[in-house]
Order: sequence, then structure tokens, then C-alpha cells
Amino acid sequence: MTRRYLMCRPTYFTVSYQINPWMDTSRPVDTARAISQWERLRDVHRDLGHEVVLIEPLTGLPDMVYAANGATVVDGTAYSALFKHPERAAEGPAYLAWFAEHDFATREARHINEGEGDLLLAGDRILAGYGFRSERSSHAEIASLWHREVVSLELVDPRFYHLDTALTVLRGDDGAGPDQTPVDVAYYPEAFSPESRARLEALFPDALRATEADAVVLGLNSVSDGEHVVINPAATDYAGALRDRGYEPVPVDTSELLLGGGGAKCCTLVLRS
Ligand code: ARG
Repeated sequence: MTRRYLMCRPTYFTVSYQINPWMDTSRPVDTARAISQWERLRDVHRDLGHEVVLIEPLTGLPDMVYAANGATVVDGTAYSALFKHPERAAEGPAYLAWFAEHDFATREARHINEGEGDLLLAGDRILAGYGFRSERSSHAEIASLWHREVVSLELVDPRFYHLDTALTVLRGDDGAGPDQTPVDVAYYPEAFSPESRARLEALFPDALRATEADAVVLGLNSVSDGEHVVINPAATDYAGALRDRGYEPVPVDTSELLLGGGGAKCCTLVLRS
């Protein structure tokens, strides 16, 4: 199935503040290299048959490249992001304006949430991460907006500060509903509290459980279209496990963007009409 993705060129990407353990302001960032890696990612999405639309990057917002945090889009409605850290606050309105201009229904969030970084559609449920960025108080707002069950999942390891750094929905995140697409997920169990881990086990007994080696290179920050999974080439166990399950791993090097704490998924927002 063809998907629509929103991406933002890392024209102004750098690491000038530190809001997650991956970011080190003393380490130089090669913006030109980040741009060419991002262009490759965009081209790979297109080569896989998907449509990529773009939002203009803004100066002074180096993290705007992580489009997945810009909003959450389900059933044609964009729910705005409300960032925890002031450094990223202006991204919320910038993305929301793009959605309004592009004829999406929009809903302004009243609670802190960092878009698809913490909200992943899985069949008729929404998996919702909290603990570092998005607040649990946003979950009721989200449940009533999309009339879907929201499964609150607590993140406990600061390296995996967004849900999409610890869990990938491999199948069932296209909004088509569970009957059309049975849900399949991959995740790193240690990123979650014991209660949330138990919840994931109960919901997805056959899930792919990633190794620590895969998780610490943000291997789970991958983009699946249900068939192909765009992954960090350093996540080698994950690539093998995906192949065993019948998926085709598509390695794309996003190492320069990892300096900001994000990978392929962070740079790719799914637009669900
Ligand atoms: N530097 C960004 C931050 O800490 C990285 C965001 C990564 N995005 C994601 N979807 N996990 O907010």
C-alpha cells in the first residue's frame, strides 16, 4: 500500500542544546552529511513507492528535521504537538500551520505530547508512550479525538525517551483497521516499566523482541510499510529477525542524525487520510 509521509530537510540541523542523552553539544555536527543522509532516506521512501511531501525547515529550529514529532495524523485529523522543552516549542505551531494549509482537519493539543514520537497507531489502538516527554494527561484527549483505545506505556530508560525509539509497528499502522491488517510490532522490552512490559506481552504475544545491541543504535526507530522496513544498518540482529518474519529490511545510514537522538522514523511522519 502506498503511504504518504511528511519530511523536513535538515537544512538547519545541528546540536546546539541537549535534551536527550544522545545529544552532545561539544561534538561537531556535519550538516551537509546529515542532508545527504536525509536525501537518501527520502529517495528510499519514494523508491519503495511512497509519496513524500515536505515542510520548509525554519532557522533556529535544528530539531525540526524530526518530523515525526511535529503532530500525529489519524483519519485525516492532525493533532498538534505540544513540546516539553522550550527549545522545540515553536515547532508545534509551525507544523500545525502546514496541516491547516494542506486541508487537514486540525486539533490543537491541550496537553504536552510530542506527536508520533510517542503515539503509534496499532490496528484499532493507539500506543502512547510517556515518562520522559509526552504527558499521560494527553491520553484521554487522544482517546476521545479518535475514538480509539489508548494503551499507556511507561518508558523508563532515558536513552529511549520517545516511544518510537523503543518500538516499531511493523504492520497495522496504516489506519486500515485490524481486520485488514493484523498488527505486528517489534520492541525492546527493557525500555518499558515492568507493568508496561506485561501489557505489551499480553497484547502482542508474538512480537519481535529486539536485542540491546539493536536498541542502543536506535534500531527500533525504523519505518515499516508492512513489507519493507527502513532500518539503521548497524542493527544487524534486528535485520536478521525481520528477514525471518518475512519482511525486507532496507538499510539506510542516518548516523549523523543520530547525533540529535533520532533515526529514520523520527524523520518520517505518517499522513493517514
Ligand atoms: N533532538 C530531538 C529531541 O530530543 C530528537 C527527536 C527524535 N524524534 C523522535 N521521533 N524520536 O527531541
